[in-house]
Amino acid sequence: MADQNALENARRFAGKEHRLFIDGVWREPRSGSAFEMRNPGDGTLLGQAAKGEAADVDLAVRAARTALEGVWADTKPAERARLLWRLADAIEAHADDFALLETLNNGKPLRDARLFDVPHAIETLRYNSGWATKLGGDTINLSGPGTWHAFTVREPIGVVAAIVPWNAPFAMSVAKMAPALAAGCTLILKPAEQTPLTALRLAHLVEEVGFPKGVFNLVTGFGETAGAALVEHPGVDKVTFTGSTEVGRHIVRAAAGNFKRVTLELGGKTPVIVMPDADIKRAIEGAARSIFTNAGQVCNAGSRLFAHESVFDALVEGVAEHAGKLRVGPGLDPATQMGPVVSQEQKDRVLGYIEAGVREGARISGQGTAASGPGYFVPPTVLTGTLPTMSVVREEIFGPVLCAMSFSDGDLDAIAARANDTDYGLGAIVWTQNLSAAHRLSRKLKAGTVRVNGGGLDPALPFGGFKQSGWGRENGRDGIEAYTELKSIAIAL
Ligand code: NAI
Ligand code: MG
Repeated sequence: MADQNALENARRFAGKEHRLFIDGVWREPRSGSAFEMRNPGDGTLLGQAAKGEAADVDLAVRAARTALEGVWADTKPAERARLLWRLADAIEAHADDFALLETLNNGKPLRDARLFDVPHAIETLRYNSGWATKLGGDTINLSGPGTWHAFTVREPIGVVAAIVPWNAPFAMSVAKMAPALAAGCTLILKPAEQTPLTALRLAHLVEEVGFPKGVFNLVTGFGETAGAALVEHPGVDKVTFTGSTEVGRHIVRAAAGNFKRVTLELGGKTPVIVMPDADIKRAIEGAARSIFTNAGQVCNAGSRLFAHESVFDALVEGVAEHAGKLRVGPGLDPATQMGPVVSQEQKDRVLGYIEAGVREGARISGQGTAASGPGYFVPPTVLTGTLPTMSVVREEIFGPVLCAMSFSDGDLDAIAARANDTDYGLGAIVWTQNLSAAHRLSRKLKAGTVRVNGGGLDPALPFGGFKQSGWGRENGRDGIEAYTELKSIAIAL
């Protein structure tokens, strides 16, 4: 349950006048205009965010450049670590405010925001804080020894533009900011136009804990204007992006101007493979959780189920039963297990996919009830009779829609071929008790993260995609190194 005072405070924060946070100052956007923030749980207006555009982006990039070459370059790694840790403590002290703001603006169940999104952000800050003092290079053994002394060092890549989506806006903003700042980069954060609220609160805490001005800048605004201006700006050295494959492609083209470094975390169509020897009860729960969590708006949601024919009916019935029982409703209602999707546009998109699947010959084998009312609710749905050519199987739906398919051949190569028959390659999930099959299948799957019998996200575990799921990795050592340039230094002896 949300504490009424805390909820009122969160609503008051949402409704106040918001500006852009540039160079340590809250500034009016040049456009002088604003855009609406809505609650997906009931469609009501929460407040307005400032509409940043190209001129504001330019100011923010200049501020980030000045800080990069000045105050932040002079800040010792241990001090960067301390600031990030202090920010984690500050968020922890206000954890419930962040959870409430995330639920108000994104729609997800408050329980999920409290249990996953906010703690994950805090852990990500602490994890990366540790790296600030530990990034280093190697001493190199040369092929012609004795002539030079050679070694490598890691330097911050520079000014980073972080463009984040709306499905886990707070956790993803922090997942980009924490390694960037730990590595010594400066940042311009552009949250999605649907969900800027937690990023705004975050910027206030950044100000409070005392980061030097210009190190962290926040420009709220639309993708086509603020986002596009960032990816085209010659003063930006790196773009880190999570979002659609379509915009990912656009960013790659725009980055060619000054050869920006680019990290892309795009969509997915994660296969869930259930072998005949799997713990069926756990597999059913896992499969349901994987597609219905966050109303399916998860890049590595398990959206294609491949179950052995001997367990297929049990799996479909089990997941369908879950779908039927799920309490779909507003995120603030403590009884809610699945919230709304983020917008009317996303609701139309998801319902459109279900219709297209049925039109192309799929059957609805299980469906829950979408809450009535003005919120953007969609019913959790299990489709069977789905073929590899159907749009519901090929395209990312980003909604609570599972396509269930069976296999009869136990050959691991054949199973992997079915699972790998997709443009995406972000995740794969395997359910089996057979250790050998678990290892062999994990190697055959073309996916950035393979999870066997459960397992989740961790700030230490690299995350990213094969194929059209993106470029590069976030999290872990690889994640922070992606915010550095490697320099080789050779000294003649
Ligand atoms: P999107 O890719 O348009 O939006 C993500 C972010 O990119 C937002 O901050 C947006 O303002 C920004 N953006 C949009 N156009 C831009 C441009 N031209 N230049 C720079 N930045 C730009 O995603 P959208 O349209 O909200 O969702 C469409 C579909 O994308 C979803 O249905 C889902 O399939 C996929 N998606 C995948 C996500 C993931 O986690 N991999 C997250 C969000 C969406
Ligand atoms: Mg878009």
